Amino acid sequence: MKAIEWIANTVKQHSIDYRFKRVNGYLFLHSSDTKETLEKEYAATKRAGLATEMLSGIPGINGEDGKWCIKFSDQAQFHILLYLKGLADAFIKLGGTIYTQTKAENITKHGASANGFTITAQHIVVATNTPVNDWVTMHTKQWPYRTYVITAKIPKGKLPYAMWWDTGNHESKWVSQPYHYVRLAEFDEKHDLLISGGEDHRTGQADDEGIKEEDRYTGLIEWTKKRFPFIENIVYKWSGQVMEPIDSMAYIGKNPGDDNIYIVTGDSGNGMTHGTLGGIIITDIIMERDNPWIKIYSPSRITSKTTGDYSKEVGNMVLQYGDWFTGADIKTPEDLKPGEGGIMSSGFRKIAVYCDEESNLHTCTAVCPHLGAVLQWNADEKTFDCPMHGSRFTTEGKVINGPATSDLKKVNIKE
Ligand code: FES
Repeated sequence: MKAIEWIANTVKQHSIDYRFKRVNGYLFLHSSDTKETLEKEYAATKRAGLATEMLSGIPGINGEDGKWCIKFSDQAQFHILLYLKGLADAFIKLGGTIYTQTKAENITKHGASANGFTITAQHIVVATNTPVNDWVTMHTKQWPYRTYVITAKIPKGKLPYAMWWDTGNHESKWVSQPYHYVRLAEFDEKHDLLISGGEDHRTGQADDEGIKEEDRYTGLIEWTKKRFPFIENIVYKWSGQVMEPIDSMAYIGKNPGDDNIYIVTGDSGNGMTHGTLGGIIITDIIMERDNPWIKIYSPSRITSKTTGDYSKEVGNMVLQYGDWFTGADIKTPEDLKPGEGGIMSSGFRKIAVYCDEESNLHTCTAVCPHLGAVLQWNADEKTFDCPMHGSRFTTEGKVINGPATSDLKKVNIKE
């Protein structure tokens, strides 16, 4: 709520037009869940002093998911790119400078190197989704998930602008129950866009759970149609990556073991809220101002309540090294059609092979440069994804998602 307030005030102060709307949020039951979950959640919202109501019926949703939901008043939605542009303009007007296309490397307490320059700094904030300065510690406290989104046109006025999400959890054999989230955005004069997401899985492990990346959209469309039968054609679909912290709270503050390096990670699908809180909390630490949230969000915090999930997830990570002994999905490059990729074994080596549309082969090592897990082919995004901590690489081996910071080494397949 504080983050929403901060955003609303800041845009007023800098006259940023970013289509801000106050909306209601509705939390409803996942099909495998009972009303007791909602009741517990409702009691927790009251303890936290939130403006919530338990409703019978779910406004806007076809009666699939039980009769109850919790209404969260005074939530907000806005156009994130217009907002970001407005913030950047305001920052520059106040004397700030932003360097894009600049990759920070070798981050230490003295600064970093970037594009051949050495940059010194008193304070360094690493806000890169998953931290690229920390090699091990933070990557045992959070897990990467792919999440899927579709958007469909609906006639304007059919639904109120609002958000809906269910009580399910991430789908994986480690953490059960897929969850879903829905909201509405403006599209054109006659239509709004229904944005519906979910069907998550641990990055690089979709196959282990029996539904490949490219097939996740089918379940999502089916789920959406049941609840919103009036949707028209699907206009867009995409997937993204979210970091799930072990105790559901983001990690914001000093990087464990460092005094002047700060991280913002573990956003858990709440990036706009956590990004804003990140700015507030890290500013307060640097300015040496008291803030009760510093302790709550500390990346060094220890939580004992989550031990069960923790051991399961760490067990999952260790198991990924088993791919060194299995983990090949093609025998020879001839198994691939144009546009396909796969992992091939050659003696003790694992090779990531991609056959492009002109039937040229691209071959790199399939060993993740972060901590050595074997990569998996993601046919939906056409990337090689690491099942361990979520690093991702293009078909040419270029790193596009941390924690890995370097590209895959090219391999000559004739060797
Ligand atoms: S991301 Fe850590 S081993 Fe690949």
